[in-house]
Amino acid sequence: MELYLSSRSMWEEDVEGAVILCFEGEVPPEEAIGDAFREGRFSGKKGEVYSFDLFRDGRKRRVILSGLGKRAELDIRRSMEATGLAISEGCRLRVGSLHVSFPPVDDPLTETMVRGIAEGALLSLYRFSGLKTEEEEERRVERVAIGLPERADLQGALEEGMVLGQETNYVRDLVNSPGNRVTPSYLAEEARRIARDQGLSCRVLGRDEIEGLGMGAFLSVARGSEEPPFFIILEYRGSGGAPVVLVGKAITFDSGGISLKPGKDMDRMKYDMSGGGAVLGTMKAVSRMGLKVNLVGLIPATENLPSGRASRPGDVVRSMSGKTVEIISTDAEGRMTLCDALHYGKGYNPRAMVDIATLTGACLIALGREAIGLMGNDEGLIGLVKEAGRISGERVWELPLWEEYEDLVKSDVADIKNVGDRTAGTIVGGIFLKRFVGDIPWVHLDIAGTAWAEKERPCQPKGATGVGVRLLYHLLRTMEEG
Ligand code: BES
Ligand code: MN
Ligand code: ZN
Repeated sequence: MELYLSSRSMWEEDVEGAVILCFEGEVPPEEAIGDAFREGRFSGKKGEVYSFDLFRDGRKRRVILSGLGKRAELDIRRSMEATGLAISEGCRLRVGSLHVSFPPVDDPLTETMVRGIAEGALLSLYRFSGLKTEEEEERRVERVAIGLPERADLQGALEEGMVLGQETNYVRDLVNSPGNRVTPSYLAEEARRIARDQGLSCRVLGRDEIEGLGMGAFLSVARGSEEPPFFIILEYRGSGGAPVVLVGKAITFDSGGISLKPGKDMDRMKYDMSGGGAVLGTMKAVSRMGLKVNLVGLIPATENLPSGRASRPGDVVRSMSGKTVEIISTDAEGRMTLCDALHYGKGYNPRAMVDIATLTGACLIALGREAIGLMGNDEGLIGLVKEAGRISGERVWELPLWEEYEDLVKSDVADIKNVGDRTAGTIVGGIFLKRFVGDIPWVHLDIAGTAWAEKERPCQPKGATGVGVRLLYHLLRTMEEG
């Protein structure tokens, strides 16, 4: 899709339709549009969309009014959702090109609007395709002009929105793709390709090297699968200081292993590499935008399958840190892979580590699909992630990691066990990981509830959401050096 800033009006621009984003109760000056308000056909409430045809000098425009809600409540989510709903309406009306405009707003919000329109357009137009032999032909919006008075300084906001929209869609493709396509070796190949395209450095460690490093916890998950595991390392250098380390869970299919999951909806567990996907997408976005940070992406990639060689409940393994771990459930596999990756990450002496993972079904129970579960050991870093949540619109909600919870992972036979009782499931995941990060500032993001959309939403078709790219990108932007 083509997306650009234009100082031309909806009548000057060569387009079939015009999206006019409106605040609730603020009647636009144009007569015909104002009439829609005055006659009660449209009020500008959030979620509201109203379309009609307008003619002038023998030319026609399909006009789509879309509500931003109250001016005082404007944020990135409102701007994205109003755009996304309008673009979907444009597709329904078979309009191929659109002019998008919005009422004047104060300055930081103009950038928010531009970014939101770009992201909203790209995210709402996303479709997963390529696996059906006959795709339905659909007329789609192919060109969007954002109508604005001449302002060279908004080009950056547009570019940021486009990159984030594209990379979020890139992650959606990875996550929607089935487990027989997106295997650990597929992810490793993607990492190599990204490194080539963006000038990053990339190393991919195979089973022998993983074993050589002593990553017994990670390997205990990979044992049951015929697909070889890989430990993927991507490094981006945008500055001189200590790096930020990102760790992404990448179970390319989670059957539960010997602690086999129930059959219902097990196919969903192809999404269990969403954290690793988010790390790949973030590395791409950060390098494309040239952020002034040093960044390391670590992705321990494997399947979790049962077999005659698979780990058993009750097995004890030795993690890279030296700590022994009792496997109570082979279905609590994500933390087994992440604990070795986090320990490996400490070797960089990082400023901060952030892991992102579809770690617990309990997170979906606690927060539903509306928020990422956030836990950590450092108030400063937690604050930055919350701020990035507000800037990006990817909402986070903090859960505590009080020391009293530590009792839940005490093992009778090893240093730690990989599950607690049935209580505080999401927190127990965080408590487990915390033991492997020491005193490095660290945040854990549980995206089990937010990585998949059960139903269509504005800017979100059913399926993978690509969550994490925008949050992590904006976190890193606030951590830029110099
Ligand atoms: N990938 C799953 C988390 C998950 C489960 C997400 C269900 C969405 C729906 C993870 O590997 C897992 O199986 N976690 C277990 C942990 C438990 C055994 C402590 C879970 O949540 O049931
Ligand atoms: Mn599992
Ligand atoms: Zn899992």
